[in-house]
Amino acid sequence: MRVLLTGSSGWLGRFLAPMLRAGGHEVTGLDVAPGTETAIVGSVADRPLVDRIFGEHGIEAVIHGGALHKPDVARYPAQAFVDVNVTGTLNLLDAARQAGNDRFVFTSTTSLMISREIREEAGEAAVFLDESVGPLAPRNIYGVTKLSAEGLCRLHHLEHGMSVLVLRTARFFPEDDDTHRDLSGENMKANEFLNRRLSVEDAAAAHVAALDRAAEIGFDILVASAPTPFRREEARELKTDAVAVIARHFPDAPALYRDRGWQLPKTIGRVYDAQRMERVLGFRCRTDFRAVLDALRDGAPLPFHYDPAYVSPKEVAASS
Ligand SMILES: NC(=O)c1ccc[n+]([C@@H]2O[C@H](COP(=O)([O-])OP(=O)(O)OC[C@H]3O[C@@H](n4cnc5c(N)ncnc54)[C@H](O)[C@@H]3O)[C@@H](O)[C@H]2O)c1
Repeated sequence: MRVLLTGSSGWLGRFLAPMLRAGGHEVTGLDVAPGTETAIVGSVADRPLVDRIFGEHGIEAVIHGGALHKPDVARYPAQAFVDVNVTGTLNLLDAARQAGNDRFVFTSTTSLMISREIREEAGEAAVFLDESVGPLAPRNIYGVTKLSAEGLCRLHHLEHGMSVLVLRTARFFPEDDDTHRDLSGENMKANEFLNRRLSVEDAAAAHVAALDRAAEIGFDILVASAPTPFRREEARELKTDAVAVIARHFPDAPALYRDRGWQLPKTIGRVYDAQRMERVLGFRCRTDFRAVLDALRDGAPLPFHYDPAYVSPKEVAASS
C-alpha cells in the first residue's frame, strides 16, 4: 500500500519506515524536521499541504505517529499541542476519508490513562491499566490532546465507517526519564519491561500489524506494551514488596541484578496490561523482562536502546 507515515524523522518513525518497506509498502514520510525517512518537511497542521500529499502521492493508508509529546510539555504552549495533536489528526482523518482510504493507525499513549492520583501511586495496591479503565483524567496537555485525537478517530469510524486502530503505546523512548533519576538509565529501562515499556522495534512492529489488520477490525483502542508477568491477584504485594513478586516469577533476577550493580524496583504502582492487543491484533511484543535477564546472564547486548543524548529531531532542527 502507499502509506503516509507522519513523524517519520522521529524515534519511532526511523524504525517503522524501513519495516513498512520491508513488508512491501511504499512509504511517504511527513515530518516538520528533516530525516532520512522524510520525503516532505511540513506540518500535519497544514491542511492544504496534507491534501496535496494525498493527491500527489496517491496515499491509501495513514500511520499517524507525528506529535508533540511528553518532553514537549515544557517547550510548547497548550495551543501548539491542540494545533498539532488535535487539528493535525483531524486533517489527516478528513483527507484519508476523502481519498477513500480504508485504514488509519493512530499512535496514542498510555500516558493519557494516568490521572494525578495514579501518578502519585498513593493506593495500597498496584493499578492494572487496560483499555477498559475510565473515566480517564489525563494530567497534562499531552494526554488531553491525545485523548481528543482518539475521540476524533472513534468519530470518523462511527460517522464514516473508516477503519481506525488506536495504539495506546507505552514508553519506548531511548533517553533518560525527565522526572526520575534515582537509578541509572539502563537499570530503569530494564525494570520498566516488567510493567510499562516496550522496545522501539516492538512498537514499530505493532504498528505494522495494526496496518495489516485494521480494515477487518474496524475500530479499536489497544494498549501496546511488553507482556507483564504480573497477575491482578499480586496487586497488593507489588505495592509492598515488588522484589518478592519478581523473584517468584524470575528466581534468577536478584543475582543477575546484583552482579550488574542494578536494583529491582521495591514497589510497583501501575501495570499496563496488553492482553487485548495480543488477542485482537495477534501481535505480542518479543522483548520482555525475560529477554533482559537472558541478556544479563549471557553477557549479551541489552535488548533495548539507551541513548541519553537523544533529542527529538525537531528540537535539533530548531537549535541549528
Ligand atoms: N517515545 C515514547 O516513549 C512514546 C510513548 C508513547 C507514545 N508515543 C508516541 O509515539 C509517537 C512518536 O514519538 P517518538 O518517541 O518517535 O517521538 P519523536 O519526537 O522522536 O518523534 C515525533 C516526530 O513527530 C514530528 N512532529 C512534531 N510535530 C509535527 C507536525 N506538526 N507535523 C509533522 N510531524 C511532526 C517530530 O518532528 C518528530 O520527528 C508520538 O505520537 C508519541 O506521542 C511515544
